[in-house]
Amino acid sequence: MNDTLEVRITVNDSPIVLEVPLTETLLTSLRDRLQLTGAKRGCNQGVCGACTVMVDGMAVRACLSLTANCEGQSVLTIEGAGADPAIAALQDAFIEAAALQCGFCTPGQLIAARALLAQNSRPSIEDVQQGMSGNLCRCTGYNRIIDAVRKAAQRLHP
Ligand code: FES
Ligand code: FES
Repeated sequence: MNDTLEVRITVNDSPIVLEVPLTETLLTSLRDRLQLTGAKRGCNQGVCGACTVMVDGMAVRACLSLTANCEGQSVLTIEGAGADPAIAALQDAFIEAAALQCGFCTPGQLIAARALLAQNSRPSIEDVQQGMSGNLCRCTGYNRIIDAVRKAAQRLHP
């Protein structure tokens, strides 16, 4: 039985073809095959959000996504998000609000916040709490992250 599959995906605007085991997660493909280590392997079981990337514009947990299911899809990781004005605004706001300490959760937080702002350009505190509830941070206590997301939203949509 052939247990690998050829998968055509676009990663950070570059079309690529990967030959992957059917059970390989998107997180493993990104980190271990493509050396895109911005998405972090935290819990590796869908709980912490550190592995969050965007797939076709939606925030997904790369540790729970199979690369084999991503055929034809477009993946955005933090490494490819540099030209995105919303990510740039979020990064600035995170720094200004001191919304990071160790930084382990930050790529996932930024991608999750980007996805949230795409759905809701001026989120309330409760909207951010709800929209980012799947992204855990062991350091900041969350209030600074919420402040940063709302500050970025304000700048992007004054
Ligand atoms: S590493 Fe994917 S949710 Fe924790
Ligand atoms: S900044 Fe350390 S886990 Fe969030």
